[in-house]
Amino acid sequence: MAKNHKTKADEPQQVTKIETDTLLELLEQTLNLEGDVVEFGCYRGDTSVLFKRLLEKKNSEKILWLYDSFEGLPAKTKEDQSAAGDQFKAGELLVTKREVIEKFKRFGLKLPKIKKGFFEDLDPVEDVPEKICFAFLDGDLYTSIKTSLKLVENRMTKDAIIVVHDYNNPELPGSSRAVDEWLRTHPTKHLSVKETLAIIK
Ligand SMILES: C[S@@+](CC[C@H](N)C(=O)[O-])C[C@H]1O[C@@H](n2cnc3c(N)ncnc32)[C@H](O)[C@@H]1O
Repeated sequence: MAKNHKTKADEPQQVTKIETDTLLELLEQTLNLEGDVVEFGCYRGDTSVLFKRLLEKKNSEKILWLYDSFEGLPAKTKEDQSAAGDQFKAGELLVTKREVIEKFKRFGLKLPKIKKGFFEDLDPVEDVPEKICFAFLDGDLYTSIKTSLKLVENRMTKDAIIVVHDYNNPELPGSSRAVDEWLRTHPTKHLSVKETLAIIK
C-alpha cells in the first residue's frame, strides 16, 4: 500500500463527520495558545491521526499526547446504566498500542506520545503535559470522563478548549453526568453542544 494512502477503514467510526469537522475547527482555534494537545481514549487513533495531520500541516510544534488502556473499556458504574448501550461492556473497544503506531506510520505522520494505562492509574503530574491548549475526552463512561476532566482541569491554559464526546448520548449517560457535575464546580466555564460534543471554554 502506498504511503499516506487512507482507506475507508481508517475513517473515524466513533465520531460523526460533523463532529470530526468541529473537533478540527476547535483544535485549529487553539493553535496560537500555549500548551499541548491531549486525547483521552484514542482507541484506533482515528481522530488522533487527523489531529496530528492538522498540527503538521500548520507546522505546529505542539505535542499530541494519546491515552488509552489498550485493554478496552473498564466496567460500567451505576451512573452509566441505561436502557440502551448494552454493547459498551468491559473489554469492548480493545485495540493494541501497536495498531495505533502502525496507523500513524501508514499516514506518514510522526509518532505522538502514547500512554498505555487506565486513566485512573496515571500519574497526574508526570503523565500529563504541564500546559494543555486542547483536550478531547472520549472515554465513554462516567468514571473515565470524570477522571480525565480531573487530570486536565488544572493544566488548561487561558482560552483553552475541552471537548467531551457522548454528551446527551442516551447510550452513554455517564458522559453527560460527569460533565454536568464538573460544570457545577467550575461555574466560570461555558458549555455549548454540537451533536454529542460538549464544548467547554
Ligand atoms: C470511543 S473509544 C475512543 C474513540 C476515539 N477517540 C475516536 O474518535 O476514534 C473509547 C476508548 O476509551 C478507552 N477508555 C475508556 N475508559 C478508559 C479508562 N478509564 N482508561 C483508559 N482508557 C479508557 C477505551 O479503551 C477505548 O479505546
